Amino acid sequence: MVGLNSALTIDDLKKLARRRVPRMFFDYADSGSFTEQTYRTNSADFQKIYLKQRIARKLNDLSLASQMVGLDVAMPMALAPTGLTGMQHADGEMHAAVAAEKAGVPFTLSTMSVCSIEDVKSVTTKPFWFQVYVMRDKTFMRNLIDRARDAGCSALVVTMDLQLLAQRHKDLRNGLSTPPRFTPHHIWQMATRPMWCLGMLGTNRHSFRNIVGHAPNVSNLRSLSAWTAEQFDPELNWDEVKWIRDYWGGKIIIKGIMEPEDAKLAAATGADAIIVSNHGGRQLDGAWSSIRMLPQIVEAVGDKIEVHMDGGIRTGVDIARALALGAKGVYVGRPFLYGLGAGGEAGVTKSINILRKELEITMALCGERDVRKLGAHNIQSIEF
Ligand code: GLV
Repeated sequence: MVGLNSALTIDDLKKLARRRVPRMFFDYADSGSFTEQTYRTNSADFQKIYLKQRIARKLNDLSLASQMVGLDVAMPMALAPTGLTGMQHADGEMHAAVAAEKAGVPFTLSTMSVCSIEDVKSVTTKPFWFQVYVMRDKTFMRNLIDRARDAGCSALVVTMDLQLLAQRHKDLRNGLSTPPRFTPHHIWQMATRPMWCLGMLGTNRHSFRNIVGHAPNVSNLRSLSAWTAEQFDPELNWDEVKWIRDYWGGKIIIKGIMEPEDAKLAAATGADAIIVSNHGGRQLDGAWSSIRMLPQIVEAVGDKIEVHMDGGIRTGVDIARALALGAKGVYVGRPFLYGLGAGGEAGVTKSINILRKELEITMALCGERDVRKLGAHNIQSIEF
C-alpha cells in the first residue's frame, strides 16, 4: 500500500482516503444518484477522447498559467464547491483553501461547508470563491452574499441544478442524515479511523457553520434540518439569477448547465461564465457526461460567455481533453477530497501537483508549450 509521499495518481489518494475517512463520509463524496450511471459515465467518457501526438516542437518554457473569469490562475483548474468537506478531515475547507492558495488555483467554498466563510478567510491571504444555491430565504441569501463580499471573495458560483435533491442510495444506506443520528454502527465506523477521530477532537468545527447561527431560528442541527428542507425552490427561474447578479455586483459563474438552450439563457443573464456540470453525477442519473455535452455548449455560446466544466476529471490528461474541447477552465471535486481525506493540506497539495504534472506532460507531448493554445487541433478522434 502506498503512503501519501509515494502516491502517484488520484486513484492512489482515493485508496488512502478510504482507509482514513469513516465510511459514511467517504461514501458521501464517492457517490452518484440512483444507479450512478452518470457518475460513472462522467469519467468513462474522457477515455473516449484521443489526443494527437506531435514531435520536434519547441518545448522550452512550458506554461500552464491562464485566466478564469479574468482572474489569473497558475493552471486553468479550480477546486470545486463540495458539501461536508470538513468531514473528510478536520477543518477540511481551511486546509484545502490554504493548499489551493499556495498552488495559485481558486478554491470554491460551498454554502454547505463545515468551516464558514469567516473561518476560511482567517487562514487565507488571497481571495477565494464562494458558491450559493438559489434558496427561498432571500434574507439569508443576501446576508450570505454580504458575508462573501466582506471576506473579499472574488467570484460567486451560483448552483442551479439543485431545485430538489436527488437520491443517493449510499447516503441512505449509511444513515447519513441531517441532523446526524449516531448509531452504534456509525460509532464503530469512526472508531476504526483513529487519526480522523483525533483530528475531529482537536477542532470545534463540526456543523454547517455558514448556516447554523446565521439562518433565522437555526441554532442547532435539528432546526437546520427543518430549515434546509424548506429552501429548495420549485419556482426557481432565471430572474433569480439576475437579482443575485445585481446584488453581488462582482464576477458570477452559473453552475449546472447541460443543454445549449439553458446555456443561451445563462449567457443572457450577463454572467461571466457557465459550468457545464451534472453535479458530479449526483442529480439527474441518466444524463450524458459533462465532457460529452461540452462541445455542443461551446458551439452554442462559446463566443458569448466563458465555458467551464466539471465532472469526472481524474487525471491531467482529462484536463487537457476538456481544454482541447473548448473549456476555459475546469473544476475538480473528488480528486482534492481524496487528497484531503488521505492527508489534510499535504494531501490536497499532492492532488493538485499530480494533476498539474500530468497536464504539463500531456500538453507538451501534444506539442503545445502554452496551455491556452490547446484546442480542437489536438484532438485525434472522439469515440462516443
Ligand atoms: C450537494 O450539493 C451535494 O451534492 O451533496
